[in-house]
Amino acid sequence: MSETTQADGRTFAPPEGLAAQANVGPEVYDEAARDRLAFWATAAERLTWAQRWDEVLDWSNPPFAKWFVGGRLNVAYNCVDRHVEAGHGEQVAYHWEGEPGDTRTITYQELQDEVCKAANALTELGVNAGDRVAIYMPMIPETIIAMLACARIGAVHMVVFGGFSADALASRLDDAGAVLVITSDGGYRRGAPSALKPAVDDAVDRSPGVRNVIVVKRTEQDVAWNEGRDLWWDDVVGRQSTEHAYETFDAEHPLYIMYTSGTTAKPKGILHTSGGYLTQVAYTHWATFDLKPDTDVYWTAADVGWVTGHSYIVYGPLANRATSVMYEGTPETPHRGRWFELIQKYGVTILYTAPTVIRTFMKWGEDIPAGFDLSSLRLLGSVGEPINPEAWLWYHEHIGGGRCPIMDTWWQTETGAHMLTPLPGVTNLTPGSAQHPFPGISAKVVDDEGNELTDDSTGLLVLTEPWPSMLRTIWGDDDRYVDTYWSRFGKDVYFAGDGAKKDAAGNIWLLGRVDDVMNVSGHRISTTEVESSLVGHPTVAEAAVVGASDPTTGQGIVAFVILRGSAEDSGEELVQTLKTHVAKDIGPIAKPRQIMVVQELPKTRSGKIMRRLLRDIAENRELGDVTTLTDSSVMNMIKDKLPAAP
Ligand code: WTA
Repeated sequence: MSETTQADGRTFAPPEGLAAQANVGPEVYDEAARDRLAFWATAAERLTWAQRWDEVLDWSNPPFAKWFVGGRLNVAYNCVDRHVEAGHGEQVAYHWEGEPGDTRTITYQELQDEVCKAANALTELGVNAGDRVAIYMPMIPETIIAMLACARIGAVHMVVFGGFSADALASRLDDAGAVLVITSDGGYRRGAPSALKPAVDDAVDRSPGVRNVIVVKRTEQDVAWNEGRDLWWDDVVGRQSTEHAYETFDAEHPLYIMYTSGTTAKPKGILHTSGGYLTQVAYTHWATFDLKPDTDVYWTAADVGWVTGHSYIVYGPLANRATSVMYEGTPETPHRGRWFELIQKYGVTILYTAPTVIRTFMKWGEDIPAGFDLSSLRLLGSVGEPINPEAWLWYHEHIGGGRCPIMDTWWQTETGAHMLTPLPGVTNLTPGSAQHPFPGISAKVVDDEGNELTDDSTGLLVLTEPWPSMLRTIWGDDDRYVDTYWSRFGKDVYFAGDGAKKDAAGNIWLLGRVDDVMNVSGHRISTTEVESSLVGHPTVAEAAVVGASDPTTGQGIVAFVILRGSAEDSGEELVQTLKTHVAKDIGPIAKPRQIMVVQELPKTRSGKIMRRLLRDIAENRELGDVTTLTDSSVMNMIKDKLPAAP
């Protein structure tokens, strides 16, 4: 979505009470501008280091950065133990709520005990620092415990979203060289148990490097059991001691890998390391959300399987000693007021979620939030795609009661933490814009030649200085890291892949991806990945996939396919088969909204598929320029296949 109407030019000043008590005021921008590295060093001092760094940043070999060089710390200690040591063991870390309504309250002391037990179990199973551990789980506390246990022993976790298929899991296990998988029998989704273990069995059968599978019991559904390989969490973790002496690791020790879609079919393993990552997620979580650990109840309503969950359900909130809410299920189960019920029940003060959810709530109607007491809320956040001003205003009014500022945070899996965002006690909010670079971050909008644009014209977003939570490489592929992010404008300019413009007031507006990556409900899915899945089906000869704008999900996946001569059927049944095929191949989130069987695809003279035209068709727009087409009659043939515009 690239709507940039300025909501009639309205802006929203920071609430006075909030501004007076805010964790950060306007001075942070000056401090960071005066000495960026000293600013980040001060932010790093909020963590507990076993050994202080010698140098804040080593950028002698761009784009390979080292932050807090020589520093040593333990990430799990910073997230858990130090709060217990400081006397906060009884504070709730997570109010967890299962979809069926079962609940668990986990204090920092309990979290420490569980993480220590899990760390001991991993060590007993021969997992060493640097080994990769896959986590394929529903939204239950053990997911977080498993991540922290890895961090505690220096193992690199790789969380694979539970909605991904066995194939997607298998390719990630292989790419990362995982030695262990942690999973569960299943999780609750839309009122029913949904199995996870069968996909793990399928994937692990193809991954000889995986020695063990640890299985958490959640739904009690039957699971196939591979004796010798599979272990119940309750047995192997349950019998361990709650004592665990942690080691400290180098600031640049790998913390996790998170796979994300790129412009080719092969997902990229984004690598994050320890000291710089934790510094920036903790500092941004504290500053952007004005987190007050003694009084706030914080809720990131997203899946832990995405970077938003890693940085703002797990690492940022825990490093700041937040009390968080964690919810397993979907917003409409068992009724459409479930989220609002949770806000009321736990007295949530800060809510962070995605525009696609807000638009869904808009569709369901304002009567639903109006039926609950949401007066505890004081601050709202948005992430994942541009939030159109209409949705912003609705969020502000019907969820935030007109009093809560909204932080529209632009960032990426690769950036690890917030990069562009307003600050709640400082910024006059402009609905629909992520506004300004976070203090200590340098961002620009540039044209194709790299010249800065500040006159509202459309260009590309770039980051012109390294930042602490930046990705360090693509796992196993330094060349792809350089090519993808650091070659378009030189080795020290990061190309984000997003279109943007900067207005006269200095606000940056994000305009969506400029590469072949779609954004569906805030999830990145590559057009190429869906295309290669489609052509992997025996009936399909050629496929082109585009993201068409969608009022709820931001973009919807629309596929155009040419069938092989041997395909006997081209009707609704085949379309269904192909949709199911993609969902099975990649995951249900990649299932095309629409598949159109066509005779030909529009191509340029050099043979490149003209996605722009296909997007026009998918969105029922007037066609753009077709003069570079080899045969412009192709478009008429395609159009004939379409239902009439609504
Ligand atoms: C998009 C999610 C506009 C953008 C944290 C980016 C946004 C991609 C915003 C990263 C926002 C994320 N405004 N666009 N506030 N936040 N995006 O890696 O296109 O899943 O490049 O990280 O989402 O998606 P990712």
